[in-house]
Amino acid sequence: MTTVKVMFTKTKLDRLRERLQQAEAGGGSERIKRQHAAGKLTARERIEFLLDEGTFEEFDKLVVHRSHDFRLEEQIYPGDGVVTGHGLVDNRRVFVFAQDFTVFGGSLSETHAEKICKVMDLAMKVGAPIVGLNDSGGARIQEGVVSLGGYADIFLRNTLASGVVPQISCIMGPCAGGAVYSPAITDFNVMVKDTSYMFITGPEVIRTVTHEEVTKEELGGASTHNHVSGVAHFAADSDEHALQLVRELLSFIPSNNMEEAPRAQTSDPATRADAKLNSLVPEASNQPYDIRDVIHIVVDDNYFFEVHEAFAPNIVVGFARINGRSIGIVANQPAYLAGVLDINASVKGARFVRFCDCFNIPLVVFEDVPGFLPGVQQEHGGIIRHGAKLLYAFAEATVPKVTVITRKAYGGAYCVMASKHIRTDVNLAWPSAEIAVMGAEGAVGILYRRELDAAEDKEAARRNRVAEFEEKFANPYVAAERGFIDEIIEPAQTRPKLVRALALLENKRDTNPPKKHGNIPL
Ligand code: HXC
Repeated sequence: MTTVKVMFTKTKLDRLRERLQQAEAGGGSERIKRQHAAGKLTARERIEFLLDEGTFEEFDKLVVHRSHDFRLEEQIYPGDGVVTGHGLVDNRRVFVFAQDFTVFGGSLSETHAEKICKVMDLAMKVGAPIVGLNDSGGARIQEGVVSLGGYADIFLRNTLASGVVPQISCIMGPCAGGAVYSPAITDFNVMVKDTSYMFITGPEVIRTVTHEEVTKEELGGASTHNHVSGVAHFAADSDEHALQLVRELLSFIPSNNMEEAPRAQTSDPATRADAKLNSLVPEASNQPYDIRDVIHIVVDDNYFFEVHEAFAPNIVVGFARINGRSIGIVANQPAYLAGVLDINASVKGARFVRFCDCFNIPLVVFEDVPGFLPGVQQEHGGIIRHGAKLLYAFAEATVPKVTVITRKAYGGAYCVMASKHIRTDVNLAWPSAEIAVMGAEGAVGILYRRELDAAEDKEAARRNRVAEFEEKFANPYVAAERGFIDEIIEPAQTRPKLVRALALLENKRDTNPPKKHGNIPL
């Protein structure tokens, strides 16, 4: 019997190759040149840089638009302006979409949106993070409402995926109009300096409507969104830097809400004490120090991956590892505005706490806070409801929570910053801790005003009362006597103590009452 070998004819294979080549050519060499000249990588180059070498599996490479608009009918680009698929980052599965600015300016059509939705749906099913590389002129103008519908389909998925799988957006070109709301819902936004911008309405519309003159960069560049609005969490120097930041960020977080973050190997001893911590807090309680010095000393290999660094620097948030385990750090920063909690700091802290709680990342809090920032601007800006976000987030969080009070824990801020009363598991304090309703100066001014007014030597009387108050209240002992502080520790021992506390909480289980969802004061 003769075997009949069925082979692809040369023509069929050639046809496939031709189509794939067409897809890989994006919008053509001229437009790719323009993309490079603008300092940007192409969509495919970005994916290649993001993923482990050779791991990218592409979907829907041959999808084309369905528009019957006469301006588009002749222009068919396989892939339709977005490259989608999955691959590995440090050997862990990640889904990705990268908008291709060289095809219709990366604008979002019906099919472009469908491609993004497909990878989002699959990411949810298999429990893997989604990384979106945004570089787009927005809704495909020729497609009208179909394109708007495509955006809404993505927004729905962003919302449903929130808290299920991590979502990271890189803004690597234009991102304007309603398109900004997808990155806005995702967990982290990385913007590339000088080449990316985000705004609801651009400078021209603003000039017409409000007569304000502003450049694109001033309005919505990386610096603006990192320093001023807080929309972005990282400002990268280049596309490569942005993608490197994403890879690193992923290393600290689990793939989904049912998993733990990956453990890292560390040779940093769990028992490492550091005497530098014993003299790090200045004697005078109004003198600043940098809380990041404490963090660096305590964590594995002194390495802290700060998030949202430029926004509200009076609170510091970010990831590190202790004994190989990922932790989320929230710390008041005495070196900026004395570490006071204001609107921006509260919102920044709350969002980070909620991220960690969604994704099983233990929270470690370093507290040195003189309270909430007084002032008309803050009150009228809603410090009450914004401050409540941070309180709510800490109270709601069921991940392991450990607090170290290094110095001040005053007033409402004492309650908010993961106090024992809101279910914090282990509360430690340094001997320099001052836990009181307010600072000694303020308290004496209120409690002894009449006495001080009547005193012959007002300054001496005030000093005496301040010293008396500090002795009595500005210390950790009253709280420790009550059990609000579990242990007052020698600062040098902070790392070993944290290692033990986190080991204790390794299998912590805690729940909130059954409900559809809470009503966090937004
Ligand atoms: C179709 C678009 C497009 C769009 C750009 N292009 N934006 N095609 N729909 N939205 C095409 C251009 O025609 C051009 O095609 C190519 O992309 C590159 O655009 P250029 O203008 O040459 O590039 P550049 O000078 O860098 O300017 C980029 C830009 C500008 C700033 C993004 O193109 C622009 O302003 N586009 C329109 C932005 C916009 O208003 N979008 C709608 C926003 S509203 P060729 O063939 O010449 O290469 C929105 C609503 C979302 O998005 C709602 C969600 C709820």
